[in-house]
Amino acid sequence: MSILVTGGAGFIGSNFVLDWIAHVGTPVVNLDKLTYAGNLENLANLHDDPRHIFVRGDICDRALIDDLLQRHKPRAIIHFAAESHVDRSIHGPGEFVRTNVEGTFTLLEAARAFWSSLPTEEKDNFRFLHVSTDEVYGSLGPTDAPFTESHPYEPNSPYSASKAASDHLVRAWHHTYGLPVLTTNCSNNYGPYHFPEKLIPLTIVNALAGKPLPVYGDGQQVRDWLYVKDHCSAIRRVLEAGKLGETYNVGGWNEKPNLDIVHTVCTLVDELRPKPDGTSYSTQITHVSDRPGHDRRYAIDARKIERELGWRPAETFQSGIRKTVQWHLDNPDWVANVQSGNYKDWVARQYAQ
Ligand code: NAD
Ligand code: TYD
Repeated sequence: MSILVTGGAGFIGSNFVLDWIAHVGTPVVNLDKLTYAGNLENLANLHDDPRHIFVRGDICDRALIDDLLQRHKPRAIIHFAAESHVDRSIHGPGEFVRTNVEGTFTLLEAARAFWSSLPTEEKDNFRFLHVSTDEVYGSLGPTDAPFTESHPYEPNSPYSASKAASDHLVRAWHHTYGLPVLTTNCSNNYGPYHFPEKLIPLTIVNALAGKPLPVYGDGQQVRDWLYVKDHCSAIRRVLEAGKLGETYNVGGWNEKPNLDIVHTVCTLVDELRPKPDGTSYSTQITHVSDRPGHDRRYAIDARKIERELGWRPAETFQSGIRKTVQWHLDNPDWVANVQSGNYKDWVARQYAQ
């Protein structure tokens, strides 16, 4: 029995597809539009593997999704496809509403039609797993308790608002139509195949290139960080044993201010690829203008998924970030290729002072 993955050429989706083939081994139909963030090089290891069926297409294309569901009859849909970068959502929110809200709606409607037509046993086993973010909960004060699953939704950016809207649609399709959904709300991921517009890969790539390491505002904004392969194992676990209609917060128990993250990365690159002149990469740190409406702190209470499903992250931040820096050093071709094309245009626009 196959699964249908959307957005499986992006950062987390491609890690998930690789992880699924390695751990489960059943076929994956991978529907991805290949926006600037989709990179088939991430899946190069599956090039000749018949278990990976790649389809270039848009989650807003109902006819295409109907056709894929009829043809492959997946037992689950794992929905990653989204516009995912907060800064891009500030410059151009329209695409976020289209993909994240309209796309999720289209997928839910197609899933509902398909699921309704299934025989009882397959209907009972079908799952729609929606991959979402902790950003839907808004911003915490320094001493506030971390987000639980019952924290009110208070999204502050066009990105988080569009993800919150998609979460609400998923919830409503369960309550109204009985669609067997599961939702995960995860904190910031890092690891291999991360597009270098996000903080950690941008810091690694810019450090190695001798470029400035941009830190927004005072750099004291706090995020929780999870190694991407731990996110993949959490999704597999929720798919396997999650209670229908429930949401599960997924986090790494690794709350850190951005400036600490950048310094940690610099120290590791200093160790693993020292500069010939002996100075630290941290001398490249540059404070730049803050992001408008920048959320001050996210923190995840991931006790529910541990208590109910027995999931905990395998990596600490120290082990995960070391693997991540080493991966970038070991994959210079991937880094070089991802830096060509659209990515350069975007970086030039975002950091033009
Ligand atoms: P990403 O931007 O790296 O990848 C998104 C993928 O979706 C790309 O391959 C892109 O081509 C594809 N896509 C975009 N629009 C599409 C459309 N209309 N139709 C089909 N495919 C389309 O994102 P990511 O970081 O891998 O995030 C994946 C999911 O996980 C998103 O839903 C995101 O909200 C969520 N999430 C991300 C993080 C994080 O730290 N990156 C944390 C929690 C949750
Ligand atoms: P990012 O990786 O864009 O993820 P998100 O906004 O979804 O949390 O950013 C992580 C944090 O790092 C966030 O507080 C913004 C900050 N940041 C910088 O300070 N400099 C940068 O160049 C980027 C991309 C992000």
